[in-house]
Amino acid sequence: MAQILLIHSNANVRDLIALNLSTYLTAHIIPRATAEEAIALLEILPNIDMVVTEGKIEKEETAQLLIEYINTHALNTELVVMGPLEKGIAQKIKNGLLVADPLNWEGAVDAASKIFGVTLENLKKKIAPVYIPIASDYFHALHSSPCDVFIRIKQGEGQYQYLKRIHRDDAFELKDIKRYESQGLQYFFILKDDRDAFATFVSNALVMRLEKEILEAGINRDPAEQLPVLGESYDLALRSIMEQGLNVSTIQLADTVIQSMISTTDRSKVLGPLFRQIIGLSTGRLFKKGQITLMVALEVLKQKNPALGLPARDDSAAKMAYAAFFADLRILDLGDSAQAEELAMLDSPELKILAALDDEVKIKFINHALDAALFIRKNPEAPLDVDIIVKQHHGSSNGSGFKTEYAQLAPLSRLFILAEAFARQFIHYSEQGRTDRPIILDMQARFAGHPTMEVLVKALQESLKQREARA
Ligand SMILES: [Fe+2]
Repeated sequence: MAQILLIHSNANVRDLIALNLSTYLTAHIIPRATAEEAIALLEILPNIDMVVTEGKIEKEETAQLLIEYINTHALNTELVVMGPLEKGIAQKIKNGLLVADPLNWEGAVDAASKIFGVTLENLKKKIAPVYIPIASDYFHALHSSPCDVFIRIKQGEGQYQYLKRIHRDDAFELKDIKRYESQGLQYFFILKDDRDAFATFVSNALVMRLEKEILEAGINRDPAEQLPVLGESYDLALRSIMEQGLNVSTIQLADTVIQSMISTTDRSKVLGPLFRQIIGLSTGRLFKKGQITLMVALEVLKQKNPALGLPARDDSAAKMAYAAFFADLRILDLGDSAQAEELAMLDSPELKILAALDDEVKIKFINHALDAALFIRKNPEAPLDVDIIVKQHHGSSNGSGFKTEYAQLAPLSRLFILAEAFARQFIHYSEQGRTDRPIILDMQARFAGHPTMEVLVKALQESLKQREARA
């Protein structure tokens, strides 16, 4: 592997040259700040193949010093000098090329390639690495990366340069990532070959964070501190499942998020303020809806009222939580995330919104409950029969469309439908800034005429009253 000393005062130019020469010539690049530093290295390593240097750095005649050193010591080191030289100096270069503009990094890369006897275009075609984007949010849970991380800079129409910004195993902090985001960055890039290792690493980091900050944290820890972590993990877990499907890592991550959702509900004394904290998070609406749905459902389950026909088994909470996490997952497949969030908030879908969708999206949306039910069956961690709740979560016994077949549904499906309707209404009212109307009134109106639902609405009303009395 060729060794190239690189001296340039402009960090971007330096990065671009380093990246290109290391990528296309597979050269080892050794950056140095001044001629003095470079010469100190040449004294130890006289066989360095090439020096790429700016002509002058501040007051130092950088190139001239190097040319004189190489000539005096009769080294075979090649030189690429960027920028004008004092009169008569260029002629002293024995092996090398001159690039007139000190910022012309492409010229320097071309010159270096020429000296090594390769044409850059051919090399680019042969070994162009493939980069894949990673949403910057993923890095919020990390303090290091298992692979190199790049940012992308547009060079021209359809042309990009990738600059390495985080080295493998480098330590970094959230504020470093936020700094990039504040400059408008949404995606980092990694090499495609690193994708699996990165995905597993992120998943493990999220699981560890949830275990530390929620599952193993003291019971008195303020949920206000835990909810942002939970919400962000929920969003990332959903996205990981969308991107990678179900595998060992994503199944474990989803399970940890779901256990954390349940655990957070145990720690709240009063529901109202907690709901408002959830609404105030910067997460997607899917988390808000899922978490509030779960909390409402668990309140009713706590009554253990046999008249409701709800199963008394302990795994009902886990079933509700799994259903809350997975029910609308397949909607994320449809269009952009803003559209998916809109669709996930539709209860009985409004015709004018459906009419605006293209046919494929419309069909998938109408069948999203069935789709999600088939999907969750592939998850070995999901409690038995949770697919039934997911399938029936829009009132249709076969998972297709939006119906009111409540009497035919499983009791837990009915509870889920009520809890989710409550959560949607809470989000709607909060977004409109309305606090004047008790949501239970809307639930009474929404499910009037369906006795199997009315009994649950009544139970919910009772639960909320008891909660208030206890608070
Ligand atoms: Fe849904």
